[in-house]
Amino acid sequence: MLRTHTCGELNKKHKGKKVVLTGWAHSIRVFGKKAFIDIRDRYGITQLVLDDKLKDIYSNLTRESVLAASGKVALRKEQNPKIDTGEIEIVVDSLVVISKAKPLPFEIFNPSVESTEETRLKHRYLDLRRGEMLRMLEFRFRAEMITRNYFSMKEFVEVETPFLSKPTPEGARDFIVPSRTFKGNYWALPQSPQQYKQLLMVAGVDRYFQIAKCFRDEDLRKDRQYEFTQIDVEMSFVDEQDVVNLTEGLISVLYSQLLGITVKKPFAQLTWHAAMDKYGSDKPDLRFKIPLGDLSELFKDSGLRIFEKEIEKGGVVKGLFTKEKFSRSEIQELELIAKRHGFPGLAWVKSEDEISGPFASKMSDSLKSEFSKKKGIYFLLAGKWLPVVTALGNIRLSLAEKMGLRKGLSILWVVDFPLFEWSETDRNLHAVHHPFTSPKQGFESQLSEDVSVADLLEIPSRAYDLVINGVEIGGGSIRITDKDLQENMFKVLGISKEVAWEKFGMLLGSFEYGVPPHGGIAFGFDRLLQVMLGLKSIRDTIAFPKSKSGRALMEGAPSEADLTTLGELELQK
Ligand code: AMO
Repeated sequence: MLRTHTCGELNKKHKGKKVVLTGWAHSIRVFGKKAFIDIRDRYGITQLVLDDKLKDIYSNLTRESVLAASGKVALRKEQNPKIDTGEIEIVVDSLVVISKAKPLPFEIFNPSVESTEETRLKHRYLDLRRGEMLRMLEFRFRAEMITRNYFSMKEFVEVETPFLSKPTPEGARDFIVPSRTFKGNYWALPQSPQQYKQLLMVAGVDRYFQIAKCFRDEDLRKDRQYEFTQIDVEMSFVDEQDVVNLTEGLISVLYSQLLGITVKKPFAQLTWHAAMDKYGSDKPDLRFKIPLGDLSELFKDSGLRIFEKEIEKGGVVKGLFTKEKFSRSEIQELELIAKRHGFPGLAWVKSEDEISGPFASKMSDSLKSEFSKKKGIYFLLAGKWLPVVTALGNIRLSLAEKMGLRKGLSILWVVDFPLFEWSETDRNLHAVHHPFTSPKQGFESQLSEDVSVADLLEIPSRAYDLVINGVEIGGGSIRITDKDLQENMFKVLGISKEVAWEKFGMLLGSFEYGVPPHGGIAFGFDRLLQVMLGLKSIRDTIAFPKSKSGRALMEGAPSEADLTTLGELELQK
């Protein structure tokens, strides 16, 4: 080793000891004939004291240069309780600059000095020098170790699955890789190991897990990356409760071992319908209340045609209530959310000494007296149930944000998702989870083309999601394991038998050779860490993430491929 100790381990017990420390010049302060240099490595910071014999070296020293300093440990006159080595300093007799640093492109350790995230990502190796980033990498590694240990203790086998594969439908676009050997043919990077883990069940592996990389070409958000990591799980001969029990164990072990937090088990459960109806989201944030109320009865014969008409058409009037005060401009901001969801505006009623709001003058006395029972403000929307609750769900989050209520910890399962949802974009049914999710027992025969879209939309599935603090952390299901049912599922989704066999033949084929009932789940590992650490962005959990706009700024990727490569692949430029 080039050092005798790290920069975080010396204390008064080492007084008088001859040591060699290596690390980065964190700060350099020169006072007359003396210089103080803080030397830093992953483990901490130690103060070096140099006298003017070393002036030639320290007067030319730049911050972040890599140093080797040898000297003796001495007690400090004034201790620094803020750092572990604050009792001592090193009186240096020799200082070697191993590698000189240029002027820095940004202030690495001083967040109060403006630097854009782009600059930090471009020099990620500098950004990662920050203590909190190094702690994050350690935290991530510990979380991986705990996860592997947890599954290993429970007889699971970690199995690696391929990256070069065929498209796997998880609702995003695939990343495609051209094949040089098979011109005109393409690999797809896996959106998840879904089919492979099911094949491992057919193979008799019984209990599989993998800390797996997944690739999805979708618009990035603060909790989404093109490539991300899943804790992926599959088990044979199980039902929903087995998967729930197993993974509640994992989440509670992670929280207790990493954060010292005891989470209450079993986790709460809400049906998808209740989550949507009460909180307007399939990933409700239950750290605060503000539930959606149903005001349809109140407005049914209110004389206010705009509401009555929606109810007559089979719609609903739903609303949110809060005692918080709102200015006109704040109401307008909430109105924008309603508009983004396709509503012409957001109705509101203020109940103070008197009732006010855009349609207060048209309200009957009895309606007014209903609203005056509580003092505060009501936000109302009328229309079809799903768009109404979804828009109010987003307004609910915005209210909570403004009121500073998004604090604490809430963990719950959302269960009983519908099997299908309707997409206006391609006017087709889509699987809410993925097409391998089983319908609830007793609904299998309904998966036929003769059943109306309205009825298909009513079929419940055996899917479940884990939600922490309003973020979807994981999702899974009990799978279809019957070939005919799987073929019918594809048919309902508009995929003919021929196309289904061409695309998913390996899975369908395997179902002809003895398939155990099975189910599983996958957790977004980066997202879980983001929520556990309360980080604003998923990027802060990944050593080398893609930027907000989806670029690898440090690597300068994606970039053009050279002509020889494109030629070999027979790809036109
Ligand atoms: P799903 O598509 O719900 O299920 O993904 C599981 C979890 O992965 C995380 N996740 C992401 N994290 C970061 N960036 C992304 N682009 C991204 N997309 C998803 C989420 C999500 O809950 N094969 C199924 C699982 C199963 O059925 O067992 C699957 O992948 O936290």
